[in-house]
Amino acid sequence: MVSIVKNIALNIPDRLLTYLRQIGSVSNQRSVKAYTVGGVVRDLILSNECQIKDGTLDLDIVIENNAIGVAQKIADDFTTSINIHKQFGTAKIITKEDFRIDFVTARSETYQTSGALPSVTFNSIKEDLYRRDFSINAIAMSILPTDFGNLLDYTGGLIDLKNASVRTLHNQSYRDDPTRIFRAIRYEQRYNFRISQTDQGLIQNSINQNHLDNISGQRIRKEFNRIFSEEFAQKSFHRMEDFVLFSAIVPCWNLPQDFSQIWKNTLQAIDWSKQYLPNEQIDQNTMLWMALLDKKTTKTVSHRLKFEKRLQEKLNAKSRLITDLKKLSYSAKPSHVYQLLNSYPLETLIFSFWNHEHHWQKEQIRNYLLTLRHVQPKITGKDLLKQGHIPGPEMADTLWNSLARQLDELKR
Ligand code: CTP
Repeated sequence: MVSIVKNIALNIPDRLLTYLRQIGSVSNQRSVKAYTVGGVVRDLILSNECQIKDGTLDLDIVIENNAIGVAQKIADDFTTSINIHKQFGTAKIITKEDFRIDFVTARSETYQTSGALPSVTFNSIKEDLYRRDFSINAIAMSILPTDFGNLLDYTGGLIDLKNASVRTLHNQSYRDDPTRIFRAIRYEQRYNFRISQTDQGLIQNSINQNHLDNISGQRIRKEFNRIFSEEFAQKSFHRMEDFVLFSAIVPCWNLPQDFSQIWKNTLQAIDWSKQYLPNEQIDQNTMLWMALLDKKTTKTVSHRLKFEKRLQEKLNAKSRLITDLKKLSYSAKPSHVYQLLNSYPLETLIFSFWNHEHHWQKEQIRNYLLTLRHVQPKITGKDLLKQGHIPGPEMADTLWNSLARQLDELKR
């Protein structure tokens, strides 16, 4: 049984309280109703203060009528910059503590077709809650001074939180917005909840009816990135496999057979790189994508999810490296190792160092990462030019031979 906090206002950290009270007070002066909705309320009810205390915080504020006016005043009061989208009735401010506060004018939404952007009509808070993904995300907390902390729960969100259940608000929800499939799994695994029986069927129907084909690669990629940042990402991916979700995105895409081990190794690889290569710009998500993709699927998934070129190159390099490593004998000279690995991206090398099977090849990668690639050439192009060398292949050979000698001497 999940423990539910009764008076959530008591659970709000001071830094957040200051903003909520001020937004409530400005709204009151303007005679408009103001609420915070979504993740913050859900987490406060679950008593997950940590999500608010650490790092950044996304705060969703819903104002019944004219959110922009309230947001503008708050931006002035706290001297923060503001981003306004007049036609959508929304505004965003980022506070000095890096709280991102989204102000939204209460609205209802209708989806003409699956995966399309919804048409929006300004409406009451009740309608605004009914437009949302899950009951656990559709609880509003009033922030007006007169009833600060009072909850509005039209959709049974409190009961679902108590029963640890992820449930959408109507049967078309996954059809309307298929990204909710990923969201349902993410919440289920994050909180150790259960997607309701009905929703499991709705998700399966939506997948069978190919609704995922209606969302862009970019939106799917964003959902993966959100899962990557979760502590229980690995469990989420196994759960996705239960729903045969990978092959619904790209046919033939499945989790690798030994995915649990690969994932574990990759997380260790990330930790290792933080410890041993702290000054390098290593993209963690690139390595996490490597864990999800193999030679067969990299190309099609990269195309479907619209990976940027740099990421595609790093993913392709993973398969190339496996072939290249076969060229390295046990007693390969350091200069040979250097020559072979020098063109590979760091992420590819670190990933392979942790996931490759052959012990001595792993050692060669490690030696390259930690030692060989840092060797400073004793003789540089400038030195040779000064000595009267003419730029060209011969000069390149001289430079390389000199560096190779240095590298091979390291061995002794
Ligand atoms: N929302 C929705 N449908 C989506 C995305 C979001 O209805 N496809 C609504 C939900 O009410 C959600 C709110 O918008 O609570 C804010 O969305 P988001 O910031 O993505 O989620 P959080 O609730 O903040 O949860 P978390 O970031 O912890 O996943």
